[in-house]
Amino acid sequence: SFIHGTEMFQAARKGGYAVGAFNTNNLEWTRAILAAGQNTNTPILIQTSMGAAKYMGGYKLVRNLVADTIDSMGITVPVVMHLDHGNYEAAKEAIAAGYSSVMFDGHDLPFEENLEKTKEIVALAHEHGISVEAEVGSIGGEEDGIIGAGELADVEEVKTLNAAGPDFLAVGIGNIHGVYPEGWKGLNFERLGEIAAAVDTPLVLHGGSGIPKEQIQKAISMGIAKVNVNTEQQIAWAKAVRAYVEAGKDLEGKGFDPRKMLAGGTQAIQDTVEERIDWFGTKKIN
Ligand code: G3H
Ligand code: ZN
Repeated sequence: SFIHGTEMFQAARKGGYAVGAFNTNNLEWTRAILAAGQNTNTPILIQTSMGAAKYMGGYKLVRNLVADTIDSMGITVPVVMHLDHGNYEAAKEAIAAGYSSVMFDGHDLPFEENLEKTKEIVALAHEHGISVEAEVGSIGGEEDGIIGAGELADVEEVKTLNAAGPDFLAVGIGNIHGVYPEGWKGLNFERLGEIAAAVDTPLVLHGGSGIPKEQIQKAISMGIAKVNVNTEQQIAWAKAVRAYVEAGKDLEGKGFDPRKMLAGGTQAIQDTVEERIDWFGTKKIN
């Protein structure tokens, strides 16, 4: 029911578009993200952080939930099931649980160790037909306990880590997880250009929430093939649920029914994901 991401992202880089990577937290999130892919007739990547997988009850449960939801909703577009920002142990666990793609995030390790562990995860994942994302430099800010200083990816390190064989490569180019601070300098296109000239591997832009559309599209035109967006859906969901409660709808009739209370939030996630897919120019399935 899943496919790995290797060809999907190679095609995206070659074709000058990106495929969105969206984080799930539960059943509603999963349905909203899958519905957005189906509705736009585009391939989609659904991912969990280590924290979200723990919250949901483990990698196996997440894998089964997403696979069964694909079946029950009759989803026909290609879906990649990916581990977002995994450490070494988590990457191995997600591979064993049946994810079709994993990120090994070694940004907090000395470079040599990041390289060695990336090689190991690549070998193990490829044995199982699973794609791997590695990271050079770091993403600023914090996401689910993953904290980064935001150093720019070093081009020599990009080349060295790329030789370890990851299928796509996350690069620090001034991007930040979560809400962007006042006075953020924007993406570093000069560094992105140097990196894109050095490697053909599809590049990944993390921290996709809050980056202006023009900057995202410019980055895609330069070699970004996967854009990760998480906070944007969380904010959209929270606003919709808050509006429902503030309007007192939970107090009217059976308005407290969670299926009613969460419906607006779920739709808001789907709308946000569909809008991003449109920004990214994701190529439709024939
Ligand atoms: O790995 C996930 C992303 O990089 C999401 O970042 O929450 O800032 O959109 P974001
Ligand atoms: Zn990220």
